Amino acid sequence: MSRYYITTPIYYVNDKPHIGHAYTTMVADVLARFHRVRGDETFFLTGTDENSQKNVQAMEKAGESDLSAYLERMAGIWQQTWRDTGISFDDFIRTTDERHIKAVTRFWKAVQASGDIYEGEYVGKYCTGCEAFKNDSDIIDDRCVLHPNKALDELKEKNYFFRGSRYRESLLEFIDQHDDFILPAERKNEIRNYIKDHFGDFSISREAKAVGVGIPVPGDESQVVYVWFDALINYLSAIGYGTDDAVFTKWWPADLHLVGKDIIKFHCAIWPAMLLSAAQHDDVLRDKSGKTLLPKRVHAHGFFTMDGQKISKSLGNAIDPREFESSYGLDAVRYYMLREISFGSDGDFSRTRLHERYTAELGNTLGNLVQRTIAMSRKYCDGGIPAIVEWDGKEDLEKRRHDVTEALLADRADLALEVIWEGLMKANKLIEDTQPFKLVKEDPEQVKQIMYWLLESLRWYAVLLYPLLPTTSQKIFHALGLDLSQNMRWDEELVWGKLASGPLPEPTPLFPRIEV
Ligand code: MSP
Repeated sequence: MSRYYITTPIYYVNDKPHIGHAYTTMVADVLARFHRVRGDETFFLTGTDENSQKNVQAMEKAGESDLSAYLERMAGIWQQTWRDTGISFDDFIRTTDERHIKAVTRFWKAVQASGDIYEGEYVGKYCTGCEAFKNDSDIIDDRCVLHPNKALDELKEKNYFFRGSRYRESLLEFIDQHDDFILPAERKNEIRNYIKDHFGDFSISREAKAVGVGIPVPGDESQVVYVWFDALINYLSAIGYGTDDAVFTKWWPADLHLVGKDIIKFHCAIWPAMLLSAAQHDDVLRDKSGKTLLPKRVHAHGFFTMDGQKISKSLGNAIDPREFESSYGLDAVRYYMLREISFGSDGDFSRTRLHERYTAELGNTLGNLVQRTIAMSRKYCDGGIPAIVEWDGKEDLEKRRHDVTEALLADRADLALEVIWEGLMKANKLIEDTQPFKLVKEDPEQVKQIMYWLLESLRWYAVLLYPLLPTTSQKIFHALGLDLSQNMRWDEELVWGKLASGPLPEPTPLFPRIEV
């Protein structure tokens, strides 16, 4: 059995989650569930990034003054949203947690012991939207290219700097030697060029009084740790770094940091450089041969717009992912978002497209297939599931299981769904080609064979769909008169002929028609 450690970014709490955040979290949930059904011991982490100036600004805008009450309330909203949307996270880290503060303190001291922290003065621009120091290439018309609606802060303050320049060569070497470290592969060059041309020393602290929030720099209370330096360490603190070395050693390094394309540089350059530095004075960050344990993969996905526009609070289109629960259901949103964009590319969320996919792909291709297969079996096979038959078509299911597995090992939920839907279309075609409702008069035995194949295929698809659409998977199981165990394992379930003969309950529509 292997172990699998997967993370989402930790989200700022200056606002509530919207469907863009839900996308990252859903993909991570699919992969965590997939690894669990494969039998991997899995740890799925998400959380909130709280020591950020933009959180303080949001609190002030809301007319509040008690920061810890604000952070607590907002973190609660994020956590509840993920619970309500069926996200199976194992832990929720807040960067105001005591365990995280301990971890940041230990990490800072290790970097310091490596001689990589020095005092200096930062004179330049800072974008609170990005929570990042900006150089000329990031600025157009005196505004950050990513946040043109916000004025940049002009900073002139004492800061501690990190000697990032020391790690430029090691980073490039690591990237070249690990093909799977940065995905999608197209992003690799962008990061390489960034490291080669722009990566150097950078500030890792801010003046405490200017920021109003943050973890104090060890030994200098007038400074707080720069929010990104602090935030990245969440991937360590949640698994015991600074509090429990044995647990930490079990989980680190992460198998996958899932991120949006906006924060790939932080994860593929700054983060490994920080680890390379700290590891020199912290054994738990190195393997037995002395090599720094760096994350195995950072996979960046694209961004969603909403009906063609950037998703933002000010445009009023930052939709809560739970909004669709009472109409289409959460699995429909999950299906739509996972399927709509090829993982890694940008895409648009449109209610019209959601409705179309719901009606055609979920309602017709899957829902009707389940409904009519069960109705026909009840009618033509003595009220239920006929006895098992051997069937040539089972190789096709084996192949689909293989392809879905490969797709999910490559973090591609979109491709996994494609493979399953091709199979569902094939099953629908079998009904159209063989017309069991006519065939039953001439050859009732063959109809039983067809019915068994269809029902057993539906069971297989329900199992394969479990990581992708957990509620739908459950519903198909119920439709077949079965229960889906939470500890289900693919190698035990995906065995041809496991579906035993027996009665079938009366079917109800999986995806009822919705009029608009
Ligand atoms: N706090 C930092 C991350 C620190 S990780 C050590 C941060 N937070 S954030 O709240 O801005 O969330 C960023 C992530 O949310 C993005 O990287 C992306 O994964 C997700 N998304 C935010 N808007 C999105 C879209 N419109 N579309 C898709 N994903 C989106 O950055």
